[in-house]
Amino acid sequence: MTMDGSLAKALNDQINHEFSAAYVYLGMAAYFESLDLEGFAAWMRAQSEEEWAHGMRIYDHLAARDTPITLGGLDEADTEYSDPQSVVAAALTLEQGTTRSVNALYAQAVELGDYQAKSLVDWFVNEQTEEEDTLRTLLSQLRIAGNDGAGLLILDRELAARQPGAAGESDAQA
Ligand code: FEO
Repeated sequence: MTMDGSLAKALNDQINHEFSAAYVYLGMAAYFESLDLEGFAAWMRAQSEEEWAHGMRIYDHLAARDTPITLGGLDEADTEYSDPQSVVAAALTLEQGTTRSVNALYAQAVELGDYQAKSLVDWFVNEQTEEEDTLRTLLSQLRIAGNDGAGLLILDRELAARQPGAAGESDAQA
């Protein structure tokens, strides 16, 4: 069915939101590169790639339904933070914002009876549960480890083991 114009706009806005998140995470990766915390940097970089893939899921949906795609601009991303904890706290806040916009998309799709869009957004709703959980856990661990010292290095090594997509990209893990 033809997509309602307001829903099409909201989904296009969400593409921008996801790509913006990709840029924010890349800035976080750059910050960790500057500290030589390679595990954190790799984790943030994988996260950035996932956000790009999230945007492409919506892009593909719009394309499949012959709905016009618009690509808005991206804001400059921070590459400087005060410490590792503040980065992860900012990432959690970012994801909480994403959850709000995804929930609004879900409600809009249901209200319009657009079950094709609802099915698309279902995946994002589940993904956000995992995204928030992952970041809350990481933030707790960082609070225990502190912003420097051996605990931080152990955590950095653990994060280095993450493969791209391992924290929520696949449907099985969403
Ligand atoms: Fe696209 Fe981190 O959720």
